[in-house]
Amino acid sequence: MIDPDDIPTNPSNAEPFEHILARRGGRRSFLKTSLASGIAAASGLSGCGSLGASLGSASELGFAELNQGLDENFHVSPGYQSQVLLRWGDPIFAGSPDFDPENQTEEAQLQQFGYNNDYVGFLPLPLGSNNSNHGLLVVNHEYCRSRLMYPGSPGTTRMSQEQVAVNKATTGLSVVEVSRTEDRWQVNLESSYNRRISPDSLMELTGPAAGHRRLLTKYSANGIDSWGTYGNCAGGITPWGTVLTAEENIQDFFSGDFSSAEPSDRESHERFGMRVENRIAAWPRFYERWDMSKTPNEPLHAGWIVEIDPFDPESVPKKRTAIGRFKHEGCNVTINADGYVVGYSGDDQAFEYLYRFISKNKYDPNDRAANMDLLEDGILSVAKFDDEGLIWIPLVYGEGPLTEENGFYSQADICFDTRKAGDLVGATPMDRPEDVDINPVTGSVFAMLTNNWDREVSNLDATNPRPDNRAGQILELIPPDGDHCADRFAWDMLLIGGSPDYPGSSYHPETSENGWLACPDNCAFDNAGNIWIATDGAETFGIADGVWVAPVVGPDRGRPKHFLRTPVGAELCGPCFTPDNTSFFCAVQHPSEGDDYETPRTRWPDFDENMPPRPAVVVVTHPQGNKVGDAIG
Ligand code: FEO
Ligand code: CA
Ligand code: CA
Ligand code: CA
Repeated sequence: MIDPDDIPTNPSNAEPFEHILARRGGRRSFLKTSLASGIAAASGLSGCGSLGASLGSASELGFAELNQGLDENFHVSPGYQSQVLLRWGDPIFAGSPDFDPENQTEEAQLQQFGYNNDYVGFLPLPLGSNNSNHGLLVVNHEYCRSRLMYPGSPGTTRMSQEQVAVNKATTGLSVVEVSRTEDRWQVNLESSYNRRISPDSLMELTGPAAGHRRLLTKYSANGIDSWGTYGNCAGGITPWGTVLTAEENIQDFFSGDFSSAEPSDRESHERFGMRVENRIAAWPRFYERWDMSKTPNEPLHAGWIVEIDPFDPESVPKKRTAIGRFKHEGCNVTINADGYVVGYSGDDQAFEYLYRFISKNKYDPNDRAANMDLLEDGILSVAKFDDEGLIWIPLVYGEGPLTEENGFYSQADICFDTRKAGDLVGATPMDRPEDVDINPVTGSVFAMLTNNWDREVSNLDATNPRPDNRAGQILELIPPDGDHCADRFAWDMLLIGGSPDYPGSSYHPETSENGWLACPDNCAFDNAGNIWIATDGAETFGIADGVWVAPVVGPDRGRPKHFLRTPVGAELCGPCFTPDNTSFFCAVQHPSEGDDYETPRTRWPDFDENMPPRPAVVVVTHPQGNKVGDAIG
C-alpha cells in the first residue's frame, strides 16, 4: 500500500505541463489544461467525423453516479443489481467438490473456479449468434497469493508441497457455460464446454519461433509442444470465436541460477526481469520446469499470446509467437476494411512499448477453420511517437538493425526478444501499456497507460507527459480513414488520471467530484461507443478501484462517471458486455491483497469468518432489463 501522503507534488523544475503538450506535434487536438484546478477542458472534437455527436452523449449514460469510497464491500450505481456469479473454489463440473478452504487439494482445485480472476470474455451460444442470455464465459486466473489462501498464512518458503500444487492448479483459465433466467445468471455444471486450463495443459507453439532450437527443453523435444499457461492477465475475443489470453508477469513464476543458459537466452531473461533469487516464486521449489538452474530456457515457452477455442473443449491452445514475446497485458483484434486481422497489444512494464500485429492472410467470414490460423503469421510492429504523430515500425528480420550483428538470426529471434528489437528501432517507451482495445463504433484505438513512478522530467514526451506518474492516462490512437494497416496514425489524449489536485490530471471541465479516476488498466466499449474503464491502483489516491464510463466523442468526451467499485485491496478487471448490453460482467481480483488469511480487511463476498476473501466474477444488470448504463425509472 502507498500512503496517499507520499504522492509528490509537481517538481518545481518541471517544464509546465501545458508547454510540453503545446510543444509536441502529432496531436489531433490540444488539451487546455489548468494545473491550478487540475481539471482541463477537453477538445470536444469528435474522433470519427460523421459518426458525430449523438454517439456517447450523456443521455446514453443516465445511471445515477456512484460515490467514490473505500470499504469492505462491492458497490454499484444506486438501483443497479449485482450478482456474484463465480468465486474462487466454486464447482465448475457436476462432480466438483465444494470449496473447503481448510482442506484444499490439487485434485479439487482442478475441478473448481481458479484464483485471481482477471480477463472475462463472453461468447454467445450458439457460436456466431448474438445471444445475450446464454454463452460461454472464459476467465483468466492470473496468479496466487498464498498468505490469503491457506490457514496459517504461509509465505512462499513455508508452503507445503500440496499447497504449491494447489497454487499451480488454481492458475490458468476456466471456461464455463452460463445462462440467464429472468434477472439471474447461472453456471451450467453439466455443460460439455466446461474446462479448466492449467499450467500443465498441453499447448502448441505456432508461428516463426515454433520448433526453434531455443525452445528445445527436457519437456519439449520438438520445440512445438509446450505445457500450460500462467500469469494470464487480460485478453480478447476474435471475430471467429476464439479467445486470446495474454501471458504477462511470467518472471514471477521462475527462479534459479540461469548462468548455464546460452548467451542469447541469458540476455533475454535479464531483459524480461527473470531473477536468480525470487521470493514470490513457489513452484520452483517442487517443479524443475520453473527452476532455471535445471531448465534454463523454459521461460522462452512463456510470455506469449495464447489462442483458445472455447467451443471445442478438446482443442489444444496455440501459442502465437508471431505476436511477440513480452509482458502481454492483452490482445484485441479487429478486421480491417481490406480483410486483414489487426491486433494490438501492450507490454505492461514501465518504459515498455505498444505493438500492432497484421495478419499475412485475410479473414474469411465463411471459413472458421481457415481463420483459426490467421494469427500464425504476419507483421509485428512497434509504436514510435514523433512530431508527426504515431509511426508503426515493422519488426522484420534483416531490416534495419534486426540482423546477425545484433543477435537476430531469423524472425524467430525477433519473436523471442521482441523488447530488444523494439529498443533497437527506437520505439517510444511508454507509461506501462495495459489494455489496448478497438472502439467498434468509432474505429479508433484506446491505450490504457496505467502509471509510471519512474518517469522523469528528463524523459517526458507528449504521450507520457507527467513525471512521477502515479495515475496514468488514456491515449487514443487514430487510424487514418479507419485504416488499421496504415503506417502512421494520429493520436489524442482522452484523459489524464488522478485526483483533481494531482499535478497534470486532465478531464472534461464538468467532470463531477466522483468522476476522476486513477490507473486505467482494462476497458470495454458499449454499443454507443462509450468507454468503460477499469482501474488498478486507485487506492494510491485513497479510493477503491472500479469502473468509470466516459463518452469518447461529442460534448462530453473525456467526462468519466463512476459506475461501480471494488472491496478494499481489489482491482477491477475484465469488463465485458453481452451483445445487447443488458448484462455487464467484471472480475474482482485480489480483494484484501496484502493481508493474511486470519485478518483480512474484507471477507467479501461471503462475509463468513470461516471463509477467506475470494476473487469472484460479478454480473451487473439493470432492474428493468434495460442496457447497463441507462437511467433507472
Ligand atoms: Fe496483470 Fe498488467 O496487469
Ligand atoms: Ca491484474
Ligand atoms: Ca491488468
Ligand atoms: Ca494492472
